[in-house]
Amino acid sequence: MIFRQMFDAASGTYSYLLASRCGGEALIIDPVLEKVGRYIELLNELDLCLVKAIDTHLHADHITGLGALRDRTQCITVMGQQSKAEIVSLRVDDGDRIDIDGISLRVIHTPGHTDDSYSFTMRDRVFTGDTLLIRGTGRTDFQNGDPRAQYESIFNRLLKLPDQTLVYPAHDYKGETVSTIGEEKAFNPRLRVQSVEHYVELMNNLKLPNPKMMDVAVLANTRIGLSQGEVARRGWAATTTEFAHAIHRSDVAIVDIRELSEQEKEGTVPGALHVPYAMLADSLRPQGVLHQTALAKKLIFVCTFGERSAMAV
Ligand SMILES: [Fe+2]
Repeated sequence: MIFRQMFDAASGTYSYLLASRCGGEALIIDPVLEKVGRYIELLNELDLCLVKAIDTHLHADHITGLGALRDRTQCITVMGQQSKAEIVSLRVDDGDRIDIDGISLRVIHTPGHTDDSYSFTMRDRVFTGDTLLIRGTGRTDFQNGDPRAQYESIFNRLLKLPDQTLVYPAHDYKGETVSTIGEEKAFNPRLRVQSVEHYVELMNNLKLPNPKMMDVAVLANTRIGLSQGEVARRGWAATTTEFAHAIHRSDVAIVDIRELSEQEKEGTVPGALHVPYAMLADSLRPQGVLHQTALAKKLIFVCTFGERSAMAV
C-alpha cells in the first residue's frame, strides 16, 4: 500500500494520499487548495491516477482542494450526504463504502464537530477528520456543531474500534502525527468525562475565537461544484423532459455512469448502459463499448448530481 500523510502548515491540516500500488488508482482525503500543485507532482512521481478526492466535512479553516483536483485530474469529488457544498460528484452516508482499485474505505457518520462530519476506516486505521483529534476533539460551536452528537460519535462509534486502530486526524497543531484508539481512550483529556452532560458543558465553555479564514473558507467550500452552465450553453445538456423522451428513441443510448453502490441504493435507469465514471476513458477507446455505441447512437450520460455527466460530456 502507498500511504502519504501531507501537512499544510498554514492551517495545520493533514491530508492523506492512499493507493494500493504504483501505477494504480489513488484517493486523497482532506486536500488543501494551496497544496494541489504538490499533490499533482507526487501523483506523477508515484505514477498514480487520482480518482477520488474526499473531504471529511466542510472545512472552516482552509479552502478545500477538491474542486482544483477535479479540474486538473478529472477525479470525482466525495462528501457526506449532509454537506452544504452545493455540488459534489458523489455523496456518501453511514455504512457506505468508498472504493478505488485495491482500497476500500468504510464510511462512518460521526456528526458533532459539524453535522456533515464523517470518519473513514480502512484495515488498521481510521481517518477521524475533526471529530477525534490527538489528545483533543474538534470544536462544536459552529456549522451545526453539537457536543451531544459528538459525544455519541466518539464514545459509541470511534472508541468501539479496536484499541490498536491507528488514528489519523485532519488537524494537529503540536506536531503529533498519529495516535491509536487505545491511547486516546487512556490519555485524551477531553474524554475524561463522567457523562454526556459533562462533555456538553466542557465543549460549550471552550470560548475559542473563530478561525481566521472562516467566512472566506466556508463560502468557497460550499461552491466547489463544477460549473455545468457551459455544458448547457453549448446545448450539450438535456432537460428531464428531453431525457424522458430520449429514453424511448432507438438512436439514443442512455449511459448511467454512477457506481454500482449508487444504483443499488437509488435504483437503475431502465434500458441504460452501465459504465461507471472510472471506466469511461477505457470504454471510449476505439475498441470500447461506448466508442462502438457512439458510432451509431447519440449518448446521454446520467449520474446523480450532474457533475460526472458534465465531465463525461
Ligand atoms: Fe473542521
